[in-house]
Amino acid sequence: MKYFSEITDFYKQNKPSELLEQFGSPLYVYNEDILRQRARQIKSLVDMPNFEVSYSIKANSNLHILKILKEEGLYADAMSDGEIFILEKAGYEKDDIFFVCNNVSAEEMRYAVDRGIMVSVDSLSQLDLYGRNFPKSKVSVRLNPGIGAGHHQKVVTGGKTTKFGINLEKIEDIFDISRKYNLKITGINQHIGSLFMSSTEYLRGVNELLQTALFFKDLEFIDFGGGFGIPYKKQEGQQPLELVQFGQDLKYILSQWQSENKRDIIFRCEPGRFVVAESSILLGKVYAKKNNYNKIFIGTDLGFSVLIRPAMYGSHHDIEVYRKNKLVKNKPFESVNITGNICESGDILVEERELPVINEEDIIGVMDAGAYGYSMSSNYNNRMRPAEVLIKSNGSVQLIRKRDTFEDLIKGF
Ligand code: LLP
Repeated sequence: MKYFSEITDFYKQNKPSELLEQFGSPLYVYNEDILRQRARQIKSLVDMPNFEVSYSIKANSNLHILKILKEEGLYADAMSDGEIFILEKAGYEKDDIFFVCNNVSAEEMRYAVDRGIMVSVDSLSQLDLYGRNFPKSKVSVRLNPGIGAGHHQKVVTGGKTTKFGINLEKIEDIFDISRKYNLKITGINQHIGSLFMSSTEYLRGVNELLQTALFFKDLEFIDFGGGFGIPYKKQEGQQPLELVQFGQDLKYILSQWQSENKRDIIFRCEPGRFVVAESSILLGKVYAKKNNYNKIFIGTDLGFSVLIRPAMYGSHHDIEVYRKNKLVKNKPFESVNITGNICESGDILVEERELPVINEEDIIGVMDAGAYGYSMSSNYNNRMRPAEVLIKSNGSVQLIRKRDTFEDLIKGF
């Protein structure tokens, strides 16, 4: 069995229990080295001067993390005016940001347009709305190539059953609307879905979009979307996405297209999860253990208000158990359900998994929690969202977001 915290020296000289004592439980703990490594890996995916990476900040939009990723040279994609706002606070400039929105008002589009940020619209009606409000300007359109991929039906965004993008058969309508308002379509983009572990579907989507690109005469960039997976089952030996071959294949396709078509274009990808997921372990405490009709329940403070992925998608996260600051690896093992403190039976973090026997006062570490962890957390049941801390490259620990307070719960009243 592989233990992530050991392989990576995740905690450096810091101890899980000391971190919880100092910052409260539960706690998102990030490791700066891992974050920077992943940013560098994806940035060097394709060795071409016109290949860029935009980090999709919906995965994690902590201000400090955004600043580190900017230092690493990543651009960003935003999904809402709020994401644009936070990106600006983190120092991103208009040309660093791509607004890939879905079903927004003219006012929200204006928030981006006023700042000179490129907008991608994802339906004919949104294109018309954009044209009515911002005639004679540049815009990007999100296409749906009919290809989808992803770890759960809820996160497959391309294909014939999803709400995203404009079907390829509607291209003539796109041109009609853009002529009507004198719009210049300078970008096309797509995102087939989240979390693929083999590059096949992504590359198929790339080929499809490149073919479609030939119909667009004013293109300045093509964005192929994100979805790059990470191995959530490392303890079972799951291997990472094979990036070297993937990058070479992508480079081959892009350079062929470029030389055949003699077009000067920026190519982009838009990963979220890959950049941040593995940089964080979520820590929580065990407060109860019970046996209900032969099911063992481990009761923790890791409810779905803190991490919703398992409850929402049935997602797997590897678990580590710490006792007196030591990783518990030894037998005996038992099959357990790890639950949180939310008043719903669906509040399950882990279902029937063989883990070393867990006792009250043990600490639970949830691996690979950096993507869609904090960013999907909530105040459900009036629970405080946890603090986030960063273990820096020199081993020191920085509080990068305070834990909510009771005051935060009433600040809107
Ligand atoms: N670009 C667009 C337009 C997207 O909609 C997304 C994710 C991404 C990029 C980044 O995808 P990534 O590289 O992170 O897979 N909450 C789910 C994932 C939802 C993804 C939504 N869109 C989860 O926890 O698995």
